[in-house]
Amino acid sequence: MLNLLQKYNVAAPRYTSYPTVPHWDTQDFNTSSYISGLKTAYASYSAAGISLYIHLPFCESLCTYCGCNTRITKNHKVESPYIDALLKEWEIYKKLLGETPKIKELHLGGGTPTFFSAENLKYLLENILAGQKETGDYSFEAHPDNTTLEHLQVLYSMGFTRISLGIQDFDPRVQFLINRFQTVSQVDAITKSAREIGYTSVNYDLIYGLPGQSKTGLINTIQEVVQLKPDRIAFYSYAHVPWVKPGQRHFTEQDLPQGQAKFELYELGKKMLNEAGYEEIGMDHFALSTDALFKSKLAGQLHRNFMGYTPMHTKILIGLGVSSISDCSNGYAQNEKKVEDYLSRIAMAELPIQKGHLSTSQDQKIRTQILALMCQEALWIESADLPKIKARLASLITDELVEVQGNWINVKPLGKSFLRNICMALDEKMWEKNTAGLLFSAAI
Ligand SMILES: C[S@@+](CC[C@H](N)C(=O)[O-])C[C@H]1O[C@@H](n2cnc3c(N)ncnc32)[C@H](O)[C@@H]1O
Ligand code: SF4
Repeated sequence: MLNLLQKYNVAAPRYTSYPTVPHWDTQDFNTSSYISGLKTAYASYSAAGISLYIHLPFCESLCTYCGCNTRITKNHKVESPYIDALLKEWEIYKKLLGETPKIKELHLGGGTPTFFSAENLKYLLENILAGQKETGDYSFEAHPDNTTLEHLQVLYSMGFTRISLGIQDFDPRVQFLINRFQTVSQVDAITKSAREIGYTSVNYDLIYGLPGQSKTGLINTIQEVVQLKPDRIAFYSYAHVPWVKPGQRHFTEQDLPQGQAKFELYELGKKMLNEAGYEEIGMDHFALSTDALFKSKLAGQLHRNFMGYTPMHTKILIGLGVSSISDCSNGYAQNEKKVEDYLSRIAMAELPIQKGHLSTSQDQKIRTQILALMCQEALWIESADLPKIKARLASLITDELVEVQGNWINVKPLGKSFLRNICMALDEKMWEKNTAGLLFSAAI
């Protein structure tokens, strides 16, 4: 196994989009073409409804490992102007589409949505959801340290049934190094309250490969976690990108479990989760067999977008807020990444798009192929493409991570831990530009 790790522990994308953001053709992008692509897609897919992602970037303190787009502040006066901007952005989209889209899936991410007061979230959501005839799959990310009963009640009353709690690790030494503190009893109390209120799915985020993480600490964390029985668990590989996130320089690389040590943490966590009844859904995700994600995987309907794995497939994702990414199925657009730039674009009544990519038919084909590998762990390849892809997979085939049977590429059990490496064989942009090592975090 050590040999495999050394061989495949290369920089690799997570493939929440294809092309991946660093490979977007931003030079050829223009907002008006994106908008006409969105309108065309909406004309075909509006009846099925859209996914809406709202990025709420503020956090009260910086967790040093964090790779998300955040703004650290203790000043809660930032809430109202930001919410007003989100509502204006939604109005712009509604005007462009000529109606209020049906929201099939809604996710509040961040940053920390629970940084905002329950009252402000209520105001935001009452306005966003005005005109919806039925609720959909609504979820939000919550920090155990500032999630209140009022947050849970208000969001449930607005139709939210899924909550995702950031935990990462309960080990006090790790929590100290990552400057992030939450106790088992806080998480327990929120989980119980959420269930009493009526939430039907509770997710916990855990990370392996954090500074100071040890097997003993991880065993304790997972034992605590499985006692609380969340429906889903995301078990992420720590992404170390200090050149993008200088906060990660608060600890040294010597503090990080790497290579074999990191992989052993993953294997240990995975084994414990399997033994506790959690099924592996796809890269990084586990769920109880009663959960919608597991059922959709069994039914072959699992999908993956910028929000991660989801049980439903909408063709259009609109992202509101700073740094959010929208996906109109024939192109991507990302909003301004700085709060000030976002607010000033909205003040000028403009869509705050900073960059994007207009997909070619080849991009769309590869995107579908990567999704099949990520969600179904199997892919049917056209005969014309087979020799090239087979040649790129040669060493993964020899190492029994993947097999080719006729036109089918099947991920083998051990290959599930190397999904990102397998998908790289399809990533034409990466092969064209040969830039992998410079842009992404390590695959394992
Ligand atoms: C926006 S945060 C979750 C909500 C809330 N801000 C919190 O921290 O509880 C999203 C999740 O991304 C994951 N994450 C953040 N930085 C990461 C990194 N560098 N590597 C891997 N996962 C990371 C964490 O598991 C985190 O819970
Ligand atoms: S992990 Fe969550 S709370 Fe911590 S800085 Fe990142 S987004 Fe904020």
